[in-house]
Amino acid sequence: MTRQTDLAFAAELDAHDPLAHFRERFVIADPNLIYMDGNSLGRLPRSTVTLAEDLVQHQWGERLIRNWNEGWFTAPERVGAKIARLIGAEHDEVIVADSTSVNLFKLVVAALRFQHGRSCIVTDNLNFPSDLYVLQGAIDLLDKQHQLVVLSSPDGIYGPVAEIHNRLDSQAALLTLSHTVYKSGYIYDMPAITAAAHEAGALMLWDLSHSVGSVPVDLHAAQVDLAVGCSYKYLNGGPGAPSFLYIRRDLQDVLRNPIAGWMGQRELFDFELKYQPTKGLRHFLTGTYPVISLSLIESGVELLLEAGLDNLRAKSQRQSEYLIDLWEEFLKPLSFTLNTPRETERRGSHVSLGHFEGLRIDQALIHASDHSYIVIDGEFDSQLTSPSSY
Ligand SMILES: Cc1ncc(COP(=O)(O)O)c(C=O)c1O
Repeated sequence: MTRQTDLAFAAELDAHDPLAHFRERFVIADPNLIYMDGNSLGRLPRSTVTLAEDLVQHQWGERLIRNWNEGWFTAPERVGAKIARLIGAEHDEVIVADSTSVNLFKLVVAALRFQHGRSCIVTDNLNFPSDLYVLQGAIDLLDKQHQLVVLSSPDGIYGPVAEIHNRLDSQAALLTLSHTVYKSGYIYDMPAITAAAHEAGALMLWDLSHSVGSVPVDLHAAQVDLAVGCSYKYLNGGPGAPSFLYIRRDLQDVLRNPIAGWMGQRELFDFELKYQPTKGLRHFLTGTYPVISLSLIESGVELLLEAGLDNLRAKSQRQSEYLIDLWEEFLKPLSFTLNTPRETERRGSHVSLGHFEGLRIDQALIHASDHSYIVIDGEFDSQLTSPSSY
């Protein structure tokens, strides 16, 4: 296959890009900055700036406490219902509040208690470290009755699929994995892995942080039990924006939130002293959520719904292919490795490159605009390679 890596080819892709006009919908403070870090913090949508102004000036400034009944109280479900459309869930199966780690903790403990008599949690070493810390914390909380099985990827890129199938047995309570792996961008086959978990009688919990808003996900088609995901990456929710949790409808009233709080209480303004969880997903809320940050997620999600996940995926695949072709031509000869699957369908929307001098190269790129570091004819200039510079 011939590879096209010149600028004219990129310009041609741009000219035929049906999503190009969405660029205007984001704040681009520096048009020369090529921002490739959406997998850590998505850009700021212009509509979010307008919404922030309204939330602070009008809703908070003018409406004061009245605004709790004018949108704030229902914000976790309202924003959740929109996120649900991005991940193939029903409108009442997704709710927003708390960090991804806290939501994961709630679901893990609830799932382990529900799976009483089964003693094993299966995961992999490609999972995000916080997820593994949460699992260890849950095991401690439940008096160390569970064993954590962390299966190793064969190469740090692909998931240990065969080992997962082998390890799922009658003791497996929960299988939990990142759908798109944060480092390598590898995507698990959600329907096949979920089916394997169910066959063994385990519950399946996916971390969708690197999938939501970047790759099409269909939780219902795969019959997924539980999921969490963050909103500050591809949903463009803003730094520290709260995350979402998903519980399949038929599990919502049988699972119990281990961090009970008044936001999940039935008739909370009766101020009853005995905890009685409200019906449905809302009892997985705990305390008062960050209303402004949570509400600001909505405009980013609306942009994604307008663009269409399939269109976005098609564009992301074209861009990633182009980037990988550029790597092959310019970076591979300089000892950069491609730490991402080559097969399009097994790759999320980020591409991971490696180099034994990766840290110094990163620092140089970050500070390039401050110090005018340049790349000439495929070779880094002398300042970059000088250890004393970094
Ligand atoms: C895959 C994944 N899971 C969990 C987390 C932790 O998220 P939080 O800081 O919202 O708890 C992150 C953070 O980047 C992540 O990438």
